[in-house]
Amino acid sequence: MTNADDTVTFRVENRIAWVKFNRPDKRNCMSPTLNRRMMEVLDELEFRDDVGVLVLTGEGSAWSAGMDLKEYFRETEAKGLGATRQAQRESYGWWRRLRWYQKPTIAMVNGWCFGGGYGPLYSCDLAIAADEAQFALSEINWGILPGGGATKVVVDLMPLRDAMYHAMTGELIDGKKAAEWRLVNESVPLDKLEARVRELAEVLLKKNPVALKATKDAIRRVKEMTYDNAEDYLVRAQEAANSFDNEGRKEGIKQFIDDKTYKPGLGAYNLAK
Ligand code: COA
Repeated sequence: MTNADDTVTFRVENRIAWVKFNRPDKRNCMSPTLNRRMMEVLDELEFRDDVGVLVLTGEGSAWSAGMDLKEYFRETEAKGLGATRQAQRESYGWWRRLRWYQKPTIAMVNGWCFGGGYGPLYSCDLAIAADEAQFALSEINWGILPGGGATKVVVDLMPLRDAMYHAMTGELIDGKKAAEWRLVNESVPLDKLEARVRELAEVLLKKNPVALKATKDAIRRVKEMTYDNAEDYLVRAQEAANSFDNEGRKEGIKQFIDDKTYKPGLGAYNLAK
């Protein structure tokens, strides 16, 4: 289904949900309306059986030009503290939902990516950019610090010197540099971007979905833990995953040890059996 007139559009094709920021004339900057709509779309897609992977991308020349300076900042601030807090909750809310989303997620960064855009960028499990995409923490250029989590995002993802340089200069970097600085996994020419993202989504679609969700959560959780806490968390996370899907794990062992139809070191077991 596509809501052509909306601030967010989506279509589901071959178990991939292609979700788009859809304010190309405003470079897909995030207004309160867009933020509310995005949460609805994420809600609608999260537990659908026909969705195995979610891709977040942008219509037109931008991925997202960050927060809407007019509708998100100026107009909500004019309405007072309550409106400001509400607007923050709505945007941070869908980014958080995306960070812990049931399905694996890929940011397909097709163009401009600024400031507040780093929130959803980080929320996606994986990120592939176009070489031509342009990234910046532009906040310093208009006189604020990189808020809305953006500072945390660059410190989590980048080496400290690069994070400091990026935040203090507000200079643009392209997709290749963003990959070098680990803001994204890799970058490819724009005309190859969708094909590369589809290829990656298809790899994920072949994996056990319960194991994928447990894995992506574990990666984010253990980053903050001591080794011993992580070890314990991982035992419990696997046991919890078993209560949702013990058969998949047994099937994975069986196809290797008994049937000899695949090798886990070289690929995934057949989910269809
Ligand atoms: N907030 C509000 N409006 C924005 C916006 C934002 N973050 N980014 C773009 N727009 C609007 C512009 O005001 C313009 O509106 P108009 O057509 O009504 O005049 C429209 O989107 C197109 O933008 P324009 O600047 O003409 O496009 P461009 O292709 O020449 O430049 C950018 C693209 C992204 C470089 C430029 O729009 C920009 O610098 N945006 C702000 C980026 C930013 O600092 N974001 C951080 C927010 S935390």
